[in-house]
Amino acid sequence: LGGIALSLALPGRGEPRQTPAPVQAMNFPKGFLWGVAIAGQQTESVPASDWTAFEAEVLRDHRFAAGDKLGATSPGNLRDFGRWPEQVRTHKAGFDLRYDQDIEAAAGLGLNAFRVSIEWARLFPRAGMTQPDPEAIAYYHQIFAAMKSRGIEPVVTLFHYVSPAWFFEADAKGKRGWERADAMTLWHAYVEAVAQNFIPEVHIWCTLNEPMVYLYDGYVLGSYPPGEKRGDFAAAQDVYAALLQAHVDAYRVLHRVASSRGTSVSVGLTQNLEVFEPYDRYSPLDRALAWVVDKSWNWDFLDAVASGRMRITTTGIDRPIEGLAGTEDYVGVNYYSRNYVRGDWRHPFAPDVGNVAPDLPDEERNDLGWPSYPHGFYAMLTKVGKRYAKPVMILENGTADGAVDDKERQRYLVAHIREAWLARRDGVDIRSYVHWSLMDNFEWNEAFDAKFGLFAVDYEHDFRRTPRPSAALYGEIVHANGLSA
Ligand code: NOJ
Repeated sequence: LGGIALSLALPGRGEPRQTPAPVQAMNFPKGFLWGVAIAGQQTESVPASDWTAFEAEVLRDHRFAAGDKLGATSPGNLRDFGRWPEQVRTHKAGFDLRYDQDIEAAAGLGLNAFRVSIEWARLFPRAGMTQPDPEAIAYYHQIFAAMKSRGIEPVVTLFHYVSPAWFFEADAKGKRGWERADAMTLWHAYVEAVAQNFIPEVHIWCTLNEPMVYLYDGYVLGSYPPGEKRGDFAAAQDVYAALLQAHVDAYRVLHRVASSRGTSVSVGLTQNLEVFEPYDRYSPLDRALAWVVDKSWNWDFLDAVASGRMRITTTGIDRPIEGLAGTEDYVGVNYYSRNYVRGDWRHPFAPDVGNVAPDLPDEERNDLGWPSYPHGFYAMLTKVGKRYAKPVMILENGTADGAVDDKERQRYLVAHIREAWLARRDGVDIRSYVHWSLMDNFEWNEAFDAKFGLFAVDYEHDFRRTPRPSAALYGEIVHANGLSA
C-alpha cells in the first residue's frame, strides 16, 4: 500500500505534488468502522415520497427553465430528468433490485459498516396509516440480515431530506410538512415503528442527515422540495426548530426502546461541514462574512444540540428547546470541500459563496467543480472533537469523479483518510470512516451525472456495476486497517 500512497500525485502550484507516503503506518484501532453510505431516494424506488412527487413536477412543468441554475452545476441535471429511462427514474441506482449483490460487494472490500436510510414514505406511504406497511418492514429486515450475515454493521439514517408526500398536504391552518401542527405526532409514529421493528437489529442511528442542507435548499434556495418556499426565512426558522424537536424525540424513543430490550444504541445526527474562507483574505467584509457563514452553517445547529438552545447567528434568535441539551452519543461529520465567501458592500447581507478562489488556479476540482481540500477535513474533525468532546463518526466523505480510471477519487480517498488519521492521533475520538458512495446514484438537483461511486453504474444496462480503481484501493486500505508506511 505504501506504493499506492506514493504513486498518487497531487497537482500543486506548478510542480506536481505527492501525497507523502506516511513515515509510519497510519493504522486505525481494532473495531474501527469502515463503511459506505447510500440513501433511499438516491439509490432505490420510494414511490410515495415528496421527492418523487417533486421529480414528477419537474418533468411535467419543466420546472427548471434553461438558465435557472438552482444549485445544479453539472451539464446534465434535474432539468433533464426526462432523458433517463423510466426504470432509472423509478429505481435510481437500483439498490432495491440488487441489494444482496451490493452488500456482497461491500463485504468484498472488507467493510464492516454500511449506512442506509429507512424511508418514512416506504413505511407510511398513505396518510392516516396507523401501522407501517409490512412489506416495507420485511424489505429492511432482509437488508439488515444480508448485512449481518456478512459481519456488516448497519448505520441507519431516519431523515435523509425525504418524507412522505402526504406529509406536505396542508393541515387545517394551511401548514405543510414540518410546519404542520401535528408534525411531531406524525414523526413520532414513524420513529416508534422503526424502533419497535429494528431494535436490536440496528445499533447505530443517525436521526437527521445534513439539516442545514435541507433547510437551505428547501426553504431558502428552493431547489429541494418544498421548492416553492424559496426565500421563506420565517418558515425556515420554524422548520429549524421542528428538526431539533424531531431529533430529541427520536433520540428518546430509540433509547427507551433499546433499554426496554436490554440493549444499547448510539444515536446522533450528521452535519455537512464545509470550510468557508474569505475570497479575498485582505478584505474585512469577506472575512467577516466568512465567519458568519461558517458559524451559521457549520456550528449553530450542532451547538444547539450540545447546549439545548437554538441560537441562530444570522437572526439573533435564542430560545431553549425542551430536552435537547446533550442528546447526542456521537457527532456525525459529512465532509467534502471548501468554499469562498465574497461580500459586496452594496448588499452586505447577501454574500456570494462559491467554489472558485482567485489565487488557487490549479487547485484540484472534481466533476462538480468542488475543490479537494483534505486539510479542511483535519481542521473540521479537530474542531468538532474539541468543541463537543464526544465520539465522532465520519458518516460521509467522497467526491464526484466519473473517469474510468478515477485518479482524482483515489487521491482524494488517501489524502482524506490520512487527515482523519492525523485528527485521531491528535486526540479526536473518531469511530468510523464511511465513504459516499458505494455506487453512482441520484445526486438530487444534479440527477445522474455526478458520479460519486466506488462502483460505476451502467444505467442503460440494468444497473450493472463496474468497480472503479478506487474500489480496490479502498479495499486495500480497509484490509490494512489504515495506510501503511
Ligand atoms: C451529502 C448528502 O447527504 C448526500 O445525499 C449527497 O449525495 C452527498 N452529500 C454528495 O453531495
